[in-house]
Amino acid sequence: MKRPFAQLVGTGHYTPSKILDNAYFEKIFDTSDEWIRERSGIRERRIAEKHETLAYMGTASCRQVLDDAGLTPLDVDGIVVGTASPDRFLPSTACDIQAELGAHNAAAFDVAAACSGFLYAISAAEGMIASGTARNVLVIGGDRLSTIADYTDRTTSVLFGDGAGATLVQPAENGERGVLATYLKTDGRLGELLCRPGGGGNHPPDEQLLKDRTYFIRMAGREVFKNAVRSMADACDQALQQAGMSGEDVDLLIPHQANIRIIEATAKHAKIPMDKVFVNVDRYGNTSAGSIPIALDEAVRDGVIKPGSLVLLVAFGGGFTWASVLVRW
Ligand code: COA
Repeated sequence: MKRPFAQLVGTGHYTPSKILDNAYFEKIFDTSDEWIRERSGIRERRIAEKHETLAYMGTASCRQVLDDAGLTPLDVDGIVVGTASPDRFLPSTACDIQAELGAHNAAAFDVAAACSGFLYAISAAEGMIASGTARNVLVIGGDRLSTIADYTDRTTSVLFGDGAGATLVQPAENGERGVLATYLKTDGRLGELLCRPGGGGNHPPDEQLLKDRTYFIRMAGREVFKNAVRSMADACDQALQQAGMSGEDVDLLIPHQANIRIIEATAKHAKIPMDKVFVNVDRYGNTSAGSIPIALDEAVRDGVIKPGSLVLLVAFGGGFTWASVLVRW
């Protein structure tokens, strides 16, 4: 089938109002605002209050998308959520969003691809459109990493924040606007570099789990960094190659917001100047699957993305997973 057969229509996002700045971590760890900013680019991150569940943040994002698209919840026939921190293991967060939104006609499921989750979810939605299974698929990316970050570990907790964003995937209309390329890639051999060792079927909750803190995220930062730079470069190349385009054609690069140094290396590789790269990692930290849809919504609402803009979305995350989506807006 010739592309584009799906387009993205409408955007929305939700981030909690509670801010945790670097000064907070100076009080609890041997760290400094300077170290965190220089090594990661992060100044502050948002932290969810109890009522701000992932479903709450996702539902708020979806309401904005439906407003933009002029649709009601009953028009939605698919809901796909990319997340690594679902509110509960059963049912999926997508089911909770379906119920909260009142989207009773939608099939709903989660996709687990860590920080690449939003792009994997877009690809799943594109497949539903192409197969004729659905015509209006809400795609949400979001995480509440504060619930699985280890606040006794200075090497990981300073990086993470909470938030969600969404878009709607519909059949393409005029053959120009829409998803021009998607690329998904995985290397499960790198799984141990970024994982939560306990809490699942292999190590169900017990006292030991709390003592050894294996419920929380563990990360080999330096190794993750190296693989991130490599995989983000590959993801840029593959999407552009599929579409027969180059970095010079791109109006806006939206990379996963994990670390400003990874973002800069990605832009350099793709030959996209930093003034065409959307950056908000300084304000939100790494919100995992939330990072790209939050940035996408901010870029649309700020007028950085206009009708006709060529937008390259690129992500990497635990798994290892990486992905890219090239869209004509
Ligand atoms: N404050 C102060 N010092 C810290 C620190 C902190 N918050 N965290 C780590 N350090 C120390 C380390 O202990 C280490 O000390 P040592 O040399 O005495 O052992 C030193 O800083 C350098 O650590 P290193 O891990 O080499 O730093 P880095 O330059 O690689 O930066 C990260 C660390 C985590 C910021 C960086 O590796 C990174 O961003 N990795 C990718 C993480 C990521 O993107 N994860 C999400 C994937 S979706």
